[in-house]
Amino acid sequence: MASVVTFSNNVNDVLADAIHTLRPSKVLVLVDSNTSRCVLPLLPILESAHVITIPAGEQHKSIDTLTHVWKQMQQADATRHALMVNLGGGTVTDLGGLAAATYKRGIPFINVPTTLLAAIDAAVGGKTGINFNGLKNEIGVFCDAVQVIISSCFFGTLQREELMSGYAEMLKHAMLTSHDELDRLLGQQIDDMDWDDFLSHVETSVNVKRDIVAKDPLENGWRRVLNLGHTVGHALESLALQRGTPVTHGHAVACGLVTEAVLSHMALQFPSPDLHHLATFVRNRYGAIHITCNDYPTLLQFMHHDKKSRDGEINCTLLRQCGEPVIDNNISEADMQTALDIYRDLMGI
Ligand SMILES: NC(=O)c1ccc[n+]([C@@H]2O[C@H](COP(=O)([O-])OP(=O)(O)OC[C@H]3O[C@@H](n4cnc5c(N)ncnc54)[C@H](O)[C@@H]3O)[C@@H](O)[C@H]2O)c1
Ligand SMILES: [Zn+2]
Repeated sequence: MASVVTFSNNVNDVLADAIHTLRPSKVLVLVDSNTSRCVLPLLPILESAHVITIPAGEQHKSIDTLTHVWKQMQQADATRHALMVNLGGGTVTDLGGLAAATYKRGIPFINVPTTLLAAIDAAVGGKTGINFNGLKNEIGVFCDAVQVIISSCFFGTLQREELMSGYAEMLKHAMLTSHDELDRLLGQQIDDMDWDDFLSHVETSVNVKRDIVAKDPLENGWRRVLNLGHTVGHALESLALQRGTPVTHGHAVACGLVTEAVLSHMALQFPSPDLHHLATFVRNRYGAIHITCNDYPTLLQFMHHDKKSRDGEINCTLLRQCGEPVIDNNISEADMQTALDIYRDLMGI
């Protein structure tokens, strides 16, 4: 069942109402070492909850951390009628969702995303999981939170690069919606953000994902539109990791969106002014991920092995224009190399 999604900057009251309605036998809260410090003290309703803390960072989205959380749930004597509140970024909502979905065959959970990336992408849509044996999100289940409470009031303490990482997913959603929505985001005063005002943009963006997921909850087809920017983005992210100079997921996606907008222009006449507007924003706000033509074979290898590619083809979601995505485009190596050449030109590298 799809989650109730509530947009509010009064999270404490919304959470109090949710707990009152659900009447759980116990409330467990999962935080990481950062959200325990920056966010938990802002929510007095959770003062009497049983707090489970995990170390911060993607490297802890692991089976060891999951085991630790299950043990803590047992030690708290949590029954099937307990409620888990996942208070954190995507690491916490993914791992906490899986812990809740599997403990005693499943207890209800509420996601309260505290990063922009988690609000826009991770907390809604029913995917939970951990990384396993070197592979990302290898183990997990589809399981919806009973409620997702989305607020922009926690974003003020985010590192700038974490904020920009989530912003790239907003750009993607805007490109899947309309030219006007993309223009709005490209014109936003990111360095002097009015967080209350920003919540309406977050709501618009999250609803793009919700509408797409509602049409294809288990990712059998249309949900692949959400892959926009990610075939190239994942390859750039993997290349940066391999070089020992990791970049955020959103930085790679932003550069992936530019390259895939180039491919969209080449294959489907995506309008050139939108492409240039996006590229200028990404160059100024994120900076290029540096590549040379010597990196192309490695990038192509990553793209052929992307988990969303079938039969080793390079598969991309492209756009005829903003709001008109086309899934399952097979891209030749030659076209991808041309697009990467143009990406480098547009980024000034
Ligand atoms: N389930 C899905 O559909 C889905 C979709 C997209 C991403 N994801 C997953 O989400 C994860 C990435 O999410 P993320 O970027 O939120 O990662 P994260 O949870 O690791 O958070 C990034 C950093 O920000 C810190 N942080 C969180 N909230 C903060 C706050 N309010 N103030 C200051 N610091 C704060 C965290 O402690 C962490 O150090 C990945 O594991 C990815 O696979 C899942
Ligand atoms: Zn993404």
